[in-house]
Amino acid sequence: MNVLLIGSGGREHALAWKIAQSSKVEKLFIAPGNAGTLNTGINVNIKADDFDALGKFALENDVKMVVVGPEDPLVKGVYDFFKCNSALKDITVIGPSAEGAQLEGSKDFAKQFMMRHGVPTAGYMSVSKENIEEGKSFLRTLKAPYVLKADGLAAGKGVLIIDNIDEAERELDNMIGGKFGSASATVVIEEFLSGIECSVFVLTDGKEYVILPEAKDYKRIGEGDKGLNTGGMGSISPVSFVTEEFMHKIEERIIKPTVNGLYKENICYKGFIFFGLINVGGEPYVIEYNARMGDPETESVMLRLKNDIVELFEATENGTLGSQKIVKDSRYAVTVMLVSGGYPEAYEKGKVITGLDKTGESVVFHAGTAVKGSDVVTSGGRVIAVSSYGATKDEALQKSFEAAKAINFEGKYFRRDIGFDLK
Ligand code: AMP
Ligand code: GLY
Repeated sequence: MNVLLIGSGGREHALAWKIAQSSKVEKLFIAPGNAGTLNTGINVNIKADDFDALGKFALENDVKMVVVGPEDPLVKGVYDFFKCNSALKDITVIGPSAEGAQLEGSKDFAKQFMMRHGVPTAGYMSVSKENIEEGKSFLRTLKAPYVLKADGLAAGKGVLIIDNIDEAERELDNMIGGKFGSASATVVIEEFLSGIECSVFVLTDGKEYVILPEAKDYKRIGEGDKGLNTGGMGSISPVSFVTEEFMHKIEERIIKPTVNGLYKENICYKGFIFFGLINVGGEPYVIEYNARMGDPETESVMLRLKNDIVELFEATENGTLGSQKIVKDSRYAVTVMLVSGGYPEAYEKGKVITGLDKTGESVVFHAGTAVKGSDVVTSGGRVIAVSSYGATKDEALQKSFEAAKAINFEGKYFRRDIGFDLK
C-alpha cells in the first residue's frame, strides 16, 4: 500500500521511520518532509495545509492511507476534506475530524468537553470582550500564579503564567485586545496546578483505543527547566512516576471518559489523542488535549513501540482496534534535541550540519533540516532529535549526549540535563 504522511518535523521523521518498517508499505510519501525523511521515503513538495494538492497527489499516486502529523491541517479540516470528496473518501485518514480536533484547536471547547464528561482538570472561566469584568473578578478569587490561555492555536505560545495580579489583569486585556490575534479573542483563565507533567498517548477509532508508551518532555530552553518555553528540548520514555497504579487512574478517570465522550457526542475521531497531564499529589489532571502526537515525545515513543504501526492504523480504520495489543520495548528511549542558537527567539538558518554519520547506535531524527547542494543545512529552531535506547535512563542519555556532541553546526545548543527530575 502507498502511504502519504503529512508534516515536516522531528515527529514526522520518527513516524516515517516507523511507517517505513511496515511490510505493508510499498511507497511512503512525505509532504513536505525534511532532509531526514528522504532516507525513509519520497519527499513531496506540497505544504501540509494545501488540501487540494494533497488530494490530487493522493489520487495520482494510488495512496490508500494518509497520516497527519501536525495539528494545523487537522484543525483546518483535512480529514473532512478527504471524507467529503467522492474520489477521496475511501482513503484512510489517520487524524480526527475538524470537530474532534477542536479538543486542541479551542481550549474553551476542550474545557467544556471535560466538564461534560467529568474529566479532572483545573477550574476555569472563559472570558471574552463581553464578560471581561467578570473575568477579572474570577482572577481575584484565584491564588497566584495566574494562568491565561489563548483559546485558539497560537503556535505553542498562547499560555501565560503570571505571578502578579495587576499584571495578570493587564495581560487579560492585552490578550482579548489581540495579543495573539483572533486566537486570544477568548481567553481561558485557569486555576494553577502544581505537580510534575507527563504525556500520555492513545490511538483511537472513536470507540476503542490502545495506549502507547508514555513520555515526559522538557519544554524550557534552559537547564533546570529555566527560561523560555520551546516546542520541546528532549523526552524520556518510560516515566518513572507513571506506575501501573497511576496509569490505571489515568485510564479510568481520563482516557475512558474522553473516548466515551467523543462516542456519545458523535464526534468522528480516528487518530491520536495526546493527553498533557499533571500529577498533583498522586492524582492525574488534564492540562491540555492535543489532537496529534507530541514532539519530541514521538521520537522516544516510536523507539519503544514494537507493533507494526500501519497494522494499528488499519485497525483504527476497520474498527478492530479493541483486539490489538500494544507491545513495548522494555528498554528506555530518550531524545535530546539540538537547536539553533537563539531559539526560541530569533535564530539563523542555513548552517551546514556535519557529523551526522558519527552518531554510534543512536537514531538521528531530523526536525528543521533541508538539503542545499550536497549539504544538509539547518532550516528551523529545532534541528536534530537524537534518540537512543538504553537498559537504564542514564545509559540511553549517555549515548544521546555523545551523539549530540558529534553532530555540529554553528550555534548548536542542547540541554545536558534531560531527565534530571526523574528516578
Ligand atoms: P498548554 O499549552 O495548555 O499545555 O500549556 C503550556 C504549559 O503551561 C503546560 O505544559 C504547563 O507547564 C503550563 N500550564 C498550563 N496550564 C497550567 C495549569 N492550569 N497549571 C499549571 N501549569 C499549567
Ligand atoms: N512536546 C509537546 C507538544 O508536542 O505539544
